[in-house]
Amino acid sequence: MQIVSFMNMKGGVAKTTLAVNIAYALGFEHHKKVLLVDGDPQFNATTYLLEDKVYLAHLNDPKKGTLRDIFIPKKPGPINTVVGTAKPINKSKMPLHDCTLKIFDRGTGRGKLDLLPSTLALVELEHSSRQTENKLKAYLHEKAKGYDYVIIDCPPTISFFTQAAILASDKYIVPIRPDPLSVIGLPLLERYISEFTDDAGMKIEQVGLVFTMVRNPAPRAMKELMDDLRRNRKGAVFADWLSLSTDVAESVTAHSPAFLFRKTPQKIKLQMVGIAQEFLNRTGG
Ligand SMILES: Nc1ncnc2c1ncn2[C@@H]1O[C@H](COP(=O)(O)OP(=O)(O)O)[C@@H](O)[C@H]1O
Ligand SMILES: [Mg+2]
Repeated sequence: MQIVSFMNMKGGVAKTTLAVNIAYALGFEHHKKVLLVDGDPQFNATTYLLEDKVYLAHLNDPKKGTLRDIFIPKKPGPINTVVGTAKPINKSKMPLHDCTLKIFDRGTGRGKLDLLPSTLALVELEHSSRQTENKLKAYLHEKAKGYDYVIIDCPPTISFFTQAAILASDKYIVPIRPDPLSVIGLPLLERYISEFTDDAGMKIEQVGLVFTMVRNPAPRAMKELMDDLRRNRKGAVFADWLSLSTDVAESVTAHSPAFLFRKTPQKIKLQMVGIAQEFLNRTGG
């Protein structure tokens, strides 16, 4: 099992789009057992994969949990009057399968994708005195052993959850829009991760950079920026990139991964499949 976070401090760079499509492709095309963790309180990965009513039913089911329940018990439990201890039901030990939703399961050895959904209520953790960034790591290491990959879609901010994701991750990948304002966030992100992991006495490896929302044809300035990054970061940049296309946004509304969505142009599908294949090669999966 390896845990990989999708990170960029900037929003709107297709982090979620890539995380969902790569997670889906790893299961669907490469027969991996995949858990996608939606780490953003804006729950975009969750609504990409679930119809609203399915998500709402999950949220409203007291026996089901979300990412939040890994950090904070849902409700205090009853007091055990027999032995006289007030022991809350520790929801952080809630079985993982009560928190996840099955997106698909193609049968033994043929790949599956489960989703650990997010919730707006995740923002409460930012100001909770009970926050413990290490809980995600401990939980996943205990309960997600059966997966080949755990993919974490991170929020665009350095928040409590981002720190929990970094601590839990073996690796991280950076979706990046090749425009000057997006690229300046890259060294900031890298420095933050390196300082944070140094302090924590650990290391996480960068899988690479994936260009997203590339205009076709790419304007000259964009091409130059891409060439510069390829030159300055030998080997870091994925060979395939994701082109800008309104059909990608449409696949989100249709709750269908872009590489399977019938309206997605073949070119975009091949890009997604190529990125997923390279992700697999680079992570040695
Ligand atoms: N290749 C693309 N072409 C056009 N729109 C895209 C593309 N990828 C993502 N989008 C859209 O752009 C918006 C931001 O993408 P998203 O994946 O949510 O970014 P992030 O997670 O980095 O904030 C969404 O509305 C999404 O549907
Ligand atoms: Mg996102």
